[in-house]
Amino acid sequence: MEPTELLADTGARIRASVPLAELTTFRVGGPATVAECATTDALVATVRALDAAGVPVLLLAGGSNLLISDDGFDGVVVTIRGDGIRLTENSVIAEAGAVWDTVVAATVEAGFGGLECLSGIPGSAGATPVQNVGAYGVEVAELIERVRLLDRASGEIRWVDPHELGFGYRTSVLKHRDDAVVLAVEYALRADGSSAPLRYGEVAKVLDAAEGQSRPSADVRRTVLRVRAGKGMVLDPIDHDTWSAGSFFTNPVVADAAVERVRAAITAHVGDVTVPTYPATGGVKFSAGWLIERAGFGKGFPGADAVARLSTKHTLALTNRGAASCADLVSLARTVRDGVAERFEIRLEPEPVTVGVRL
Ligand code: EPU
Repeated sequence: MEPTELLADTGARIRASVPLAELTTFRVGGPATVAECATTDALVATVRALDAAGVPVLLLAGGSNLLISDDGFDGVVVTIRGDGIRLTENSVIAEAGAVWDTVVAATVEAGFGGLECLSGIPGSAGATPVQNVGAYGVEVAELIERVRLLDRASGEIRWVDPHELGFGYRTSVLKHRDDAVVLAVEYALRADGSSAPLRYGEVAKVLDAAEGQSRPSADVRRTVLRVRAGKGMVLDPIDHDTWSAGSFFTNPVVADAAVERVRAAITAHVGDVTVPTYPATGGVKFSAGWLIERAGFGKGFPGADAVARLSTKHTLALTNRGAASCADLVSLARTVRDGVAERFEIRLEPEPVTVGVRL
């Protein structure tokens, strides 16, 4: 059955041969049939109908953490657009399709604190639990009270507690599988309007705060937006440094047993320098951006004429200068990954979800 027929009663709007590049912040991705779901009810009905018919589904909301093949997607891309936001006395409940920064702004404007360090992150609220979005010293898992999920196997909908979601650094049980669809998320807020304790030096410094102190959430939001924009991490249609999926690689955790070897490799290549590291369970977290830069892939690599380059503001973002294909970005990602592995014996892992391509 054709998608239009199959989805006739779901409330979804069907469009054929949509270039997926239009729906992702990387602005790459070939064509596919798209079912636009303006409401959560339409989303649930659409996913249930496609699953019952055995049609492959790609769920897409903000499109900010996706690298989609130039061949597009053979199935139906379901867009998540239900975007209700409701504040309670001490929390906010957002539908999955709510634009994340609109959620943050709404809480700060209403005099709440808690989410301000996560200002300016592209994408949707529903994506935040999937990869435990984090920035400037806060991970969203610290604030999530519950997540409303559609279980695709049973068709059942229920609120799930955070302890069932296996949150870790940029991961959860929801990542890299799509047997559950996030429909809504509830986040705990600070009713007194103070920010989460400031743990990121650069932000604390601008606000003249000691690390661990709080400041009014509106002040922290303003500061974070400025710091992020300086790194090209706030979407801006005219700035190609932001045609990206944010950080392309996660910061690698090196197991304790291998740390000395990695440090020796770094010293051999760049001399006796201070290497930025962070504590992690079972090992040491290195900074991917730092390693990339020291491996010889500086900001803007490989140069102004390239259609796919590293951001000129931050080495961890791969960017599309306007005419890049998915293949161009994959090729750049491989060059960087392999160069870092060769010099420092660390294998970088991609952070975005890849569709129809592998590094
Ligand atoms: N660095 C370089 N060159 C660069 C950029 C950074 O050498 O071009 C070095 C800096 O010296 C710095 C270190 O890398 O010491 C860390 O840089 P930064 O503070 O910008 O943070 P990051 O580790 O690169 C992480 C998250 C970001 C998040 C920021 C701020 C990951 C993969 N990335 O980046 O999240 O916004 O911290 O908290 O965890 C994302 O996940 O998509 C993302 C953007």
